[in-house]
Amino acid sequence: MNEKNSLGLNKCFLDLDNPIQLFNEWMEEAKKTEPNDPNALSLATSDRNNIPSVRMVLLKDFSEDGFVFYTNLNSQKGNELKENLNAAMCFHWKSLLRQIRITGKVSLVSDQTADKYYSSRGYESRIGAWASHQSQELKTRDQLLKQIKDYKKKYSDEKKCS
Ligand SMILES: Cc1cc2nc3c(=O)[nH]c(=O)nc-3n(C[C@H](O)[C@H](O)[C@H](O)COP(=O)(O)O)c2cc1C
Repeated sequence: MNEKNSLGLNKCFLDLDNPIQLFNEWMEEAKKTEPNDPNALSLATSDRNNIPSVRMVLLKDFSEDGFVFYTNLNSQKGNELKENLNAAMCFHWKSLLRQIRITGKVSLVSDQTADKYYSSRGYESRIGAWASHQSQELKTRDQLLKQIKDYKKKYSDEKKCS
């Protein structure tokens, strides 16, 4: 039988008392070895009938307080999390043959933190956030393109796109 270290991982893994520190070490390795998006993770939520759904999101921050991603609160995941705060995350770094699984309750970051993140995004991403009604069915692709055009007109001054 494999011997386990203090984290319950096989002995061959780095043994750190603090799982967040270990996550950080692995993330730093993944940044060097993954071809793209080492911060991509699958996020599982479930609806009021306990039907699960999973999709990719990007990790934007992490600390002892939690693992932070950003999304549209009116998306499917956003709506599901309003009803059921329980969620699960899974990182898979193929280049390292490693995964990290996280379960917990989701909470909102402060408005100030969300605003700071929004302001850090490029102009096209900010316009995209306004124009896309995430998770809602589009009748046509043109509908989205028109919304993008309209928001670009509305916020033609990049500094005022907030
Ligand atoms: C690599 C990757 C990263 C993504 N990152 C995010 C993200 O950070 N936030 C987000 O809302 N959607 C992100 N998406 C899109 C989601 O996977 C998903 O399509 C969208 O959020 C709608 O999900 P929902 O209908 O389950 O709410 C990403 C997709 C991919 C492929």
